[in-house]
Amino acid sequence: MNGYLQVFDDVARLNEAVAHQWRLIADAAVRDRGVFHIALAGGSTPRKLYERLVQPDYCDGLPWNLTHVYFGDERCVPQDHADSNYRMASEALLSHVPIPPSQVHAMFDPSLGVKKNGVEKNADNYAALLADQLPASSSGQPMFDLILLGMGDDGHTASLFPGTTILDETNRAVAAQFVRKLDVWRMSLTFPTINAARNVAILVAGEGKAHRMAEIASSETSKSRYPIQRVNPTGRLDWYLDHDAAQYIAREADA
Ligand code: 6PG
Repeated sequence: MNGYLQVFDDVARLNEAVAHQWRLIADAAVRDRGVFHIALAGGSTPRKLYERLVQPDYCDGLPWNLTHVYFGDERCVPQDHADSNYRMASEALLSHVPIPPSQVHAMFDPSLGVKKNGVEKNADNYAALLADQLPASSSGQPMFDLILLGMGDDGHTASLFPGTTILDETNRAVAAQFVRKLDVWRMSLTFPTINAARNVAILVAGEGKAHRMAEIASSETSKSRYPIQRVNPTGRLDWYLDHDAAQYIAREADA
């Protein structure tokens, strides 16, 4: 298992650690480059982290005026749709902090269309935005200062699901993918861009992820069995787990 693993008694303590890392990385990025580029995770796990960052002890100390927020992936639905990652992040964080609206970069514009051509156009547009806004890595990929990721119980991350062709994308920074298992179109950062990041933080919480985490942490498991195992950035990788998600890893290690 690549990266640094930290296990916390509960999600609140996990979120305190991630918020602290966010602040350290943001301060360093602004000091070194005058700007902080971060890609947010979707799903439900990060909501409480985002809400924590709204509290004055974090909110007031973060460089929102020099922060650009992007998304690691998006469901191809309108921004006010219940499934939208943009909506979740806006409700939990972005509408409560003093980030200039022009520095929040939604991933999906439904006006371009919600079927294959529209979604692929969205992906091309977002990739062009990243190329324009972010510094390039040595491999020519846009380089985020921090990418937040979650993990599904099938080992997916962002919208990089098992058995989908996007897993093998080697050039494009952003791609569209029809996810048959969910019968929906998704957009996602690809592994070349995720792995070009200076920092990646994977947040995993809850009993439902525990068996998959034990498999991923086990040396017996093939390194490419699950999509999330392909997250191997040139920068720093941190796994933040709560006790419930990590509970079988110890048992695996003792075995
Ligand atoms: C998404 C996310 C996805 C998520 C995992 C975990 O758009 O759904 O990017 O990769 O991180 O599915 O989701 P939960 O946090 O809801 O368990």
